[in-house]
Amino acid sequence: MIEVRNLTKHFGSNPVLKDVSFRIEKGESVVIIGRSGCGKSVLLKHLIGLLQPDAGRVLIESEDIVGMGERELLRVRRKFGMLFQSAALFDSMTVAENVGFAFRRERALPSREIRQRVAEVLEMVDLPGIENKKPSELSGGMRKRVGLARAIIYRPAIVLYDEPTTGLDPIVSDSIDQLILRVRDRLSVTTVVVTHDMRSTRRLGQRILMLHNRQIYAAGTADEIFHSSDPIVRRFIEGVSDPKELYF
Ligand SMILES: Nc1ncnc2c1ncn2[C@@H]1O[C@H](COP(=O)(O)OP(=O)(O)OP(=O)(O)O)[C@@H](O)[C@H]1O
Ligand SMILES: [Mg+2]
Repeated sequence: MIEVRNLTKHFGSNPVLKDVSFRIEKGESVVIIGRSGCGKSVLLKHLIGLLQPDAGRVLIESEDIVGMGERELLRVRRKFGMLFQSAALFDSMTVAENVGFAFRRERALPSREIRQRVAEVLEMVDLPGIENKKPSELSGGMRKRVGLARAIIYRPAIVLYDEPTTGLDPIVSDSIDQLILRVRDRLSVTTVVVTHDMRSTRRLGQRILMLHNRQIYAAGTADEIFHSSDPIVRRFIEGVSDPKELYF
């Protein structure tokens, strides 16, 4: 479904990713972990062509999207739903407008059908009937759910989640994780989650990729990663700092 080959990216004098390669199969749920600032969001943005690499290839269903024009990219992006790190809702719009607006702009559907589709996805994220609320009236967890409803309204084949549980309490985090699994199973989507929440990683990751020092430092099943004896992997999983290093 997704294949990244030898992807390299830098911003000015800041090298972020170097020679990163991996594959994600159809229907898999893969969690990408790694320290803050290691390039997880940058990597996700390459998968939908929001960023272009310095070198390397990004294949989506065997199609190389590197160097594609905007028109073609739009076509490929329709395969994706993305839940951004900040949920990114428009405060001036109602929930229904937030969830439906891109969809409405792109598909010439009667408004009754769009209303129905919006109601359907709000139902799927356990927020039925909140169409007329404003984002400012919602809790953090509810905003994430609305962001997710918007991500799946196109019935995408792949959903990308950037830090879906960051900033939420453990109970709400668990409920969001359950929702991600529900969406995966009901819509049979390929799921890619970026997080540094180890509990989410455990719950969601059939396979885990750990980014470190600009590369995929470790890759394996959840069991393999959680039982790894590598000191860098262990320190990350257990959240222990190295006394010889400085952290900012
Ligand atoms: N558009 C950009 N222009 C310049 N530098 C950028 C840009 N986007 C990201 N970076 C840099 O790339 C590096 C990786 O950033 P990224 O946002 O991918 O980190 P992250 O792993 O998602 O971190 P976090 O866990 O805090 O979200 C950082 O050093 C960041 O400053
Ligand atoms: Mg990030």
